[in-house]
Parts: sequence; C-alpha cells; structure tokens
Amino acid sequence: MITATVFNHAGGAGKTSLTRDVGYQLSQAGHHVLLIDLDPQANLTSWLGVRKVDLAQTVFDVAVEGSSLPTPVEVHGMHLIPSKVDLARAEARIMGLPGAHSSLHVALQEVTDRYDVVLIDSPPSLGQLAILGAAAADSLIVPIPTRAKGLDAMPGLQEATTLYRRVRPHLRVALYVPTMYDARRSHDREVLEDLRSHLSPLGEPVPERAAVWLDSSLAGEPVGVYAPGSPVHQDVLRMTAEVARALGVRA
Ligand SMILES: Nc1ncnc2c1ncn2[C@@H]1O[C@H](COP(=O)(O)OP(=O)(O)O)[C@@H](O)[C@H]1O
Ligand SMILES: [Mg+2]
Repeated sequence: MITATVFNHAGGAGKTSLTRDVGYQLSQAGHHVLLIDLDPQANLTSWLGVRKVDLAQTVFDVAVEGSSLPTPVEVHGMHLIPSKVDLARAEARIMGLPGAHSSLHVALQEVTDRYDVVLIDSPPSLGQLAILGAAAADSLIVPIPTRAKGLDAMPGLQEATTLYRRVRPHLRVALYVPTMYDARRSHDREVLEDLRSHLSPLGEPVPERAAVWLDSSLAGEPVGVYAPGSPVHQDVLRMTAEVARALGVRA
C-alpha cells in the first residue's frame, strides 16, 4: 500500500482536483484506491457527489480517539473517507493530544492489505489536520499554481516539509505539479521557469481549463466520468502517469 498526501497550505492549488482524478484513474487502472478527505470544506467529498455525511464517517474519531478507520463510502469504484464542516472541530481537539498526529498513520496500518494506493487530500492550512495527513504519508504530491501565489507559497512549503519530517523522517516530496498553467501568459512561463530551477522532481504543467474542472465538480463526477476523451481528461491521464511513476505504481 502506497500512501501519498496531496499537500499545499495555499488554497486553489489544485490539490482536491488532483486527488479526485488521479485517484479515479488509478482505480480504473485496476488499483484498490482509498481517498481521504481531510479538509473541513469537504470539496473532495462533494465533488465526488457524496452528501449528508455524518461526523462518524470522517477521520474525526481516528484523530481524536485513536479509533480505527470508519467504514468508507464507495464511490465511482473507489473508497472514500468523507469530510464535513464539523471536522474542523478536530483541530482544537488534537492540539496538544500526545500521539494524535500519528493516529491516521496507525489506523492505515490496519488496512494495508485492502488498498494499493491511499491518496489524502490536505486542507489549505498548516494546522493540525494538515500534520495528521503528512504524518500518515510516505510521500507528498505538491501542486503549485504557475502564478505569483505559487511562488509565494514556496518558503512555507519548504518549512512545512522540514517540520513534518520530525514526525515522518522519511517523508519525501515525490512530485511537484505545476497547475493552472496558461502558456499564453508570460507571467506563467516565467513562474514555470522559476519552479523548474528550484523544485525537483517537477512534473509537466497542467493547463488551465476552468470549464470542465468546474462542471465535473458540480456534477460530482471525476473528469474521466464526466468528460471522457476531452482535453482535460487527456491532461488528467498525463498527470496520473506522472504521479504513478513518482509513487512507483502502475498507471
Ligand atoms: N487545470 C485547471 N484549470 C482550471 N481550473 C482548475 C484546474 N484544476 C482545478 N481547477 C479549479 O480550480 C479551483 C481550485 O482547485 P482545487 O482542486 O479546489 O484546489 P485546492 O484543493 O488546492 O484548493 C477549483 O474550482 C477547481 O475546479
Ligand atoms: Mg482542496
């Protein structure tokens, strides 16, 4: 079982989109995939069409009580531990609770024979839930927009990964993924060059194409279901191949 956390403390980086669609394509390739939504905004959950979530279905008890993983929701051939806004209450509860940050890692050890790939969608913060996710992972996948805000996030990213290695000494960034790339904008090309000279390994940029990403999310379907064969689906397949290679799984 390979566990990767999709991390960037900045919002709007493409974390949730990557988690949903790379997860879906890996499940289509025959892997048993578990997705975990750690963001109280619950975008991953709703963008997979899952609603009416009970707090007991989230990682709340895992984090606060050290419980086993709850029964996942089955969706589009994957398993999902969903989220809801109340999960935010876990932030205050696990702060200063000894061992709480490794509780998701511990709970995942009980399901290693059930899944091939676990992808964890991190919240847009450097808070307790983000630590919970990083401490559960072997690798981080880090999407970064090819915009000034992508560059602005870089010092925080380096700092966070250094800190997370205190709880997970072998944690590595398996892949940085440039996102929201518009090749017509000189700004984006410059930022991409900057990312290339500072970050390794860096994947190919994912083009900015808002409509299908937005519409598939509203429909609660991965791009591979909502718009198979579309240019965005081609982007997703390319991104999946890169992520799979970086994680050492078949795509
Ligand atoms: N390649 C893309 N081009 C344009 N819009 C995108 C792309 N990928 C994702 N989006 C949209 O950008 C927004 C932010 O993406 P999201 O995956 O929620 O990022 P994060 O989880 O890091 O906050 C969402 O509305 C999503 O639909
Ligand atoms: Mg998100």
